[in-house]
Amino acid sequence: MPKPIYVLNGPNLNLLGTREPEIYGKHTLDDVAAVAAKRAGELGLKCDFRQSNLEGELVTWVQEAREKGSGIIMNAAGLTHTSVALLDALQAADVPIIEVHLSNIFRREDFRHHSYVSKAAVGVICGLGAQGYALAVEAMAGIVDSK
Ligand code: DQA
Repeated sequence: MPKPIYVLNGPNLNLLGTREPEIYGKHTLDDVAAVAAKRAGELGLKCDFRQSNLEGELVTWVQEAREKGSGIIMNAAGLTHTSVALLDALQAADVPIIEVHLSNIFRREDFRHHSYVSKAAVGVICGLGAQGYALAVEAMAGIVDSK
């Protein structure tokens, strides 16, 4: 079994299901984790799925993924648009990174149109809700396999 894909989720995503459901949908974070784990299982892979409200903890997990992960699927939530520290960690990670957002950030406020995470990512999936995580796992499987 290859190293797990780290699926890292940023601030406020623990509130999924009740947080602005008209934007983020009715799935809880556990539902999203299940979607990612199912697709990974079908592809013979495993996800290490985590969420934190703390920027430093996410940085630490990215550093951990550098050693222990095969790739990183990152929904940095609000930190997407602000965090140079997270970008620095991702750029040092030396594993493939796919950025995911539940909502279509380009249909929303201007400040959401810029992403620091994108500068480190192979690709970006946004606007497809929980399904985006399954698509990201599938894409990551292909990238990891071709390495
Ligand atoms: C988000 C989009 C971000 O702009 C926002 O701050 C989030 C969630 C998404 O998944 O759609 O918290 O990353």
